[in-house]
Amino acid sequence: MESTQTSDWVARSLRSVWHPCTQMQHHETVPLIPVKYGRGAWLYDHEGRRYLDAISSWWVNLFGHANPRINAALKDQLDSLEHAMLAGFTHEPVIELSERLAALTGHNLGHAFYASDGASAVEIALKMSFHSWRNKGQADKQEFVCLKGSYHGETIGALAVTDVALFKDAYGPLLRATQTVMSPDARQAAEGETAQERAENAARRAAADVERLFNERGDKIAAIIIEPLVQCATGMAMHDPLYLQLVRALCDRHSVHLILDEIAVGCGRTGTFFACEQAGVWPDFLCLSKGISGGYLPLSLVLSRDEIYQAFYSADVTRGFLHSHSYTGNPLACRAALATLDIFEQDNVLAANKVRAERLTKALAPLANHERIKDARQQGMIWAFDAIDAGPAFSRRYFAEATRQELLLRPIGSTIYLMPPYILDDEEIDGLAARTLSVFEATLAGAGA
Ligand SMILES: Cc1ncc(COP(=O)(O)O)c(C=O)c1O
Repeated sequence: MESTQTSDWVARSLRSVWHPCTQMQHHETVPLIPVKYGRGAWLYDHEGRRYLDAISSWWVNLFGHANPRINAALKDQLDSLEHAMLAGFTHEPVIELSERLAALTGHNLGHAFYASDGASAVEIALKMSFHSWRNKGQADKQEFVCLKGSYHGETIGALAVTDVALFKDAYGPLLRATQTVMSPDARQAAEGETAQERAENAARRAAADVERLFNERGDKIAAIIIEPLVQCATGMAMHDPLYLQLVRALCDRHSVHLILDEIAVGCGRTGTFFACEQAGVWPDFLCLSKGISGGYLPLSLVLSRDEIYQAFYSADVTRGFLHSHSYTGNPLACRAALATLDIFEQDNVLAANKVRAERLTKALAPLANHERIKDARQQGMIWAFDAIDAGPAFSRRYFAEATRQELLLRPIGSTIYLMPPYILDDEEIDGLAARTLSVFEATLAGAGA
């Protein structure tokens, strides 16, 4: 009876739902899992099987599924205001959230512009950058720079500054040309005695590439967009904070905006609330989404400097930023974000995560030292491991085996990574580490390795 229910949901979903980032034909062999409910770090299916959500449901969930505190805030908000348009009107949740985020940036980024998904925040930052130069009489500054392996979303503008061939190539004719510079990925570093020296050398080499480009055509460039500290979607490529310091200085020298896309790495993921805090620099635009609503509701935003805001402030309507989305600043989403910020404060989450991270790193040592693993790396609450000679379709085979062992893990190519919610207890940490390894071994064995 129960299993009929599951296959029924699967059949109905495959008939009517077009799933994201999926070649639908793969579901002829890879199972689709209907989720019935979530509690804490776990998702449960209709047959009572459970899955530890070790990638926070695409990097959004910070404090577990059905979190009682976020639930309570949302229920309270539902009884007062579910939505009101943000043009001509305003409301308490959006005001409070904007104030608290500005305070978290030390009031360096004091103006919050809202949207829903990450990609729309990227679109906003790109448009704002270009338009603010135009308003300042520098309409020639129209080009954008992105990093090799960068990922900023799937809409046309965001895809133009993305450098992942699999997502981009089919749409090439639709996209604006973009300048692409070297990635500071620390794995590429060749010279240096210590890992730190090598990471700094990779940062310097990549910053020199930015300098070369800015020297050539800085007067044409509006902005450079960077995922600070970790380029997640390209396979958790990590870099030294020095890179951000060097690029910030180059942006100042050449009058180029720095857009930091903290959609994946913000909200404590790298160990500080904002990743850029580790470099001691602030961008001109900071994009935030995913974890900001605790993984509850689509919410994204762009924080910008006062100088940018002032470039739009005028009696002339066309100098204003006339961009909008219907659900901009949705009160429910903002309230979820406020509840999320409350948890950060009340539970001293960043300090607690340090302890969690140390335990998980120790527990993962057998995987890090496995003969078929290289470049084990960690930044805050992100761990990544590159499989050697992983074999064809490694990611799909690992995912399928992981679900058999109660884990939700989806490698990127041959990179196994963990991005768990910030609530794992010791038992969950140890179990997660042990199973990440046993799934790896079973996947290798299945490939006849
Ligand atoms: C760094 C980064 N930017 C932008 C996006 C796009 O966000 P969304 O999928 O919400 O549009 C993502 C999504 O993974 C991301 O990792």
